[in-house]
Amino acid sequence: MKIFLTGGTGVLGRRVLKLLSENNAEVVVLSRSAENAALITQLGGTPFSGDLFNPDDLIRGTAGADAILHLATHIPRASKTSAWALNDRIRTEGTANLLRAAWINGVPFYLQQSVALIYGDQQGRVVTPDTPLPEKQPAMLRSAVEMERLIREAAGDGLSYAILRFGNFYSADSAQTRGLLENFRNGKVPLIGKGDFYWNMIHTDDAAAAVAFVLFNRARFENKILNVSDFNPLRFSEFLAALAMATHSDMPRRVPRYLARLLVGKDTFKVMTASYRITDAQAMEGWAPRYPGFREGLRSLGI
Ligand SMILES: NC(=O)c1ccc[n+]([C@@H]2O[C@H](COP(=O)([O-])OP(=O)(O)OC[C@H]3O[C@@H](n4cnc5c(N)ncnc54)[C@H](OP(=O)(O)O)[C@@H]3O)[C@@H](O)[C@H]2O)c1
Repeated sequence: MKIFLTGGTGVLGRRVLKLLSENNAEVVVLSRSAENAALITQLGGTPFSGDLFNPDDLIRGTAGADAILHLATHIPRASKTSAWALNDRIRTEGTANLLRAAWINGVPFYLQQSVALIYGDQQGRVVTPDTPLPEKQPAMLRSAVEMERLIREAAGDGLSYAILRFGNFYSADSAQTRGLLENFRNGKVPLIGKGDFYWNMIHTDDAAAAVAFVLFNRARFENKILNVSDFNPLRFSEFLAALAMATHSDMPRRVPRYLARLLVGKDTFKVMTASYRITDAQAMEGWAPRYPGFREGLRSLGI
């Protein structure tokens, strides 16, 4: 099986690359630098030097592939809307270029990394892929909704897809996780209001295993949207309590919701406090996360 992978050097992608290579897949990985090429080779892939925003590169790179996996993202550390522009472009223009390359080369399967955060605030209700998405999305999530639309519209005519809506990633090698822990230790992650909204988490090892599972069982998941999370959402207050235990710190101070909204901005606040629960493990029968909850996963980070 030949796979074309984007994002193969990222926290999710490098795990996926390793898993696929270990399972004898030939993985051609989009590479943007010599360092990328070295890492890709070390993980068992074949680097393909090219640009996600150059359609011809992608047509060359995906020739003869059985599947395309689009795992590239660029999540900025700053919450400013402008900082998200490259991520938006990866989701929209990058996706459109890959779908066109798939069409030209007759690639039969396309798998997309998406985000569960697009469910928005569902007041803590359980969501499934059939749950209607809010009409109005925060600026940084609009491109994810658009990306999903592009994929659904391109399907048919020999091309099927799976869209994986992931919970929040965490792992020891994630810059985001390390930043969170550092901020928490420095008292910069306060309890927001009562902290009663839910967060849906997934260890990045489990996220990668889910990608490989869907790919290897793709006949079962054709044209499906799947929620990929640890299926044990926890309240934000519980999330902070787990961090406090893991880092030997006190529970952080509490800030009222209106103040948190002022501090982080309207859109980031909306994303942080969106409350929904992903609990349905049935949709991916045969796959189960190794870390069934955030507490277990956090323990594994060895902090
Ligand atoms: N669901 C979630 O919670 C979620 C989702 C995504 C990311 N994150 C987190 O956010 C943090 C930062 O994420 P990140 O996406 O910046 O880093 P990342 O996950 O470490 O890597 C992103 C991947 O996308 C590639 N990429 C970036 N821009 C590209 C472009 N213009 N063209 C082609 N490929 C491109 C990167 O390649 P290069 O090596 O060439 O840069 C890399 O392979 C990570 O710590 C991650 O855990 C969380």
